[in-house]
Amino acid sequence: MNSFNRGVYFSAGAAVLFLLFMMPTAQAGENDCVQNRATQPAPPEIYEKANPLKATPKNLSAGRKLYMGGAKPFGCYPCHGINGNGKGMTALKMMLKPRNFTCKAMMKNIPDGQLYWVIKNGSEGTEMKGYKTLKDKEVWQIVAYIREFSK
Ligand code: HEC
Repeated sequence: MNSFNRGVYFSAGAAVLFLLFMMPTAQAGENDCVQNRATQPAPPEIYEKANPLKATPKNLSAGRKLYMGGAKPFGCYPCHGINGNGKGMTALKMMLKPRNFTCKAMMKNIPDGQLYWVIKNGSEGTEMKGYKTLKDKEVWQIVAYIREFSK
């Protein structure tokens, strides 16, 4: 290989690297956040249920309090994250990741009733345990609150 060829290869390589580098990350579609859900679907009559509570400031603030620690033992944020992105500090070591509530493309396909049911009953065989001691109203307040993450 003479020095001219080497120069050509080098420039071609540099050009490829440059293009890769410049490829806009914005090309990542909104679907890229969709997770594998091991969650069982709720029984049909619950699955279809819409949240009976409105997203009023009062309900959202109650939901937020439960999410941030009020729901015994330690709320939801250690796994689902303060911003609802599923990357709470305890999420790192989990095989199955906590749901990313900020993912619009996924959340729009999970009805209120399903969120409600999993919060109450958990997802068998995963770190997502059921919150049996929460009152119905509290669960719906949490559902209203976690919807805010994908608005
Ligand atoms: C110890 C970690 C942990 C805590 C604490 C936790 N979760 Fe989860 N959560 C998970 C994991 C892991 C999954 C994914 C389970 C699966 O895919 O089956 C999940 C899934 C979910 C889902 C998904 C339902 C579906 O059908 O996709 C909802 C809703 C949810 N969690 C709500 C909550 C709420 C609300 C709280 C607090 C009251 C909470 N979680 C607390 C780990 C946790």
